[in-house]
Amino acid sequence: MAKRTIAQVDVKGQRVLMRVDFNVPQDDKGQITDDRRIRMALPSIKSVVDRGGKLILMSHLGRPKGEAGDEKFTLKPAAARLSELLGKPVAFASDTVGDDAKAKVAALKDGDVLVLENVRFQKGEQKGDTKFAEALAAFGDVYCNDAFGTCHRNDVSMYYAPQAMGSKPKVSGFLVEKEIKYLSDAIAKPERPFVAIIGGKKVSDKINVINNLIGICDKILIGGAMAYTFSKAQGGQIGKSFLEADRVELAKDLLAKAGDKIVLPVDTHCGDDFKGTCNKQVVDAGKIPDDYEGFDIGPKTAALYADIVKKAKTVIWNGPMGVFEMPPFDVGTKAVAQALADSDCVSIIGGGDSAAAIEQFGLADKVSHVSTGGGASLEMLEGKKFGAVEILDEA
Ligand code: 3PG
Repeated sequence: MAKRTIAQVDVKGQRVLMRVDFNVPQDDKGQITDDRRIRMALPSIKSVVDRGGKLILMSHLGRPKGEAGDEKFTLKPAAARLSELLGKPVAFASDTVGDDAKAKVAALKDGDVLVLENVRFQKGEQKGDTKFAEALAAFGDVYCNDAFGTCHRNDVSMYYAPQAMGSKPKVSGFLVEKEIKYLSDAIAKPERPFVAIIGGKKVSDKINVINNLIGICDKILIGGAMAYTFSKAQGGQIGKSFLEADRVELAKDLLAKAGDKIVLPVDTHCGDDFKGTCNKQVVDAGKIPDDYEGFDIGPKTAALYADIVKKAKTVIWNGPMGVFEMPPFDVGTKAVAQALADSDCVSIIGGGDSAAAIEQFGLADKVSHVSTGGGASLEMLEGKKFGAVEILDEA
């Protein structure tokens, strides 16, 4: 069921309490290295500001254990970046629901923006704390969830605070609306052939996704280090490649269940050391020499996967094909990214490493959607429902 969005609420003069996901990567000096999550929240933020709402933004950053004041986890740099992107001042409260936050919320004028300090500086944020929920709820006349990356968490700012607001409007932002449209609706009614490309290191991280997609997709292409666990399950020689020995039986079960839906690499680009400068060779899958390990899919696999993508109408990609941060083992991931960019299918890139890869190759604007969710997009592909979305008003 579609959710009511922020566009459907008259926000003029109203205090809009908006949960965003400004959990952005930073370097050692606290400089933001990728501001995509902030940029993706701009449409909702601008919609409130331009219509004269008083905007109060809340987010987490990292995983502090409630140590308020730890500079490593402050949202101050995110507020500063937002101010640059908006081209207007953005106020910052040095606490989340304390005196500074209360005073700054009370001082907001129509069109103003305030960022509260990291919600995870409050020990109760991830423990369903009622008092914290009520304190946040008191700041808003309207609640808006535009934090797709955190939608799989029933944290106070996501789930309990909006419910503590009683009958006040609880709506989704445009980013959450868009993510759900792609990730959930595309899976519910995909144009076929519907292909999933699943990579990454561990089969164990993706079991639930693969299990769910076996029943929905026409083909599931496997890449990344998890391919070696599947290869082992088929009796292949995988040399020193990464192996989840305790998942070999599971890989066998998945292969048996999927029939010919699961497509495994036919060749492997391997090396004798974890360095781009190591000795390398391309071998047939399942024939990796003892002192070598697989770092990427080989060229025949890249061509095969590109060909399957070319014929697909919907493609979901989650997880790299190899060590894409270390050339030349980025080639397989790049080939898949390029195939998606060249195709006119509905192409959906799960968050995390695959989103980082498509950005790195400069192809992010050539696909239909790049998710801002890591764990959230994975759980959505697993077919899970999110409490934080369920509680929002129906359209
Ligand atoms: C993410 O980066 O996946 C989200 O911001 C959620 O963060 P979390 O896994 O720390 O809850």
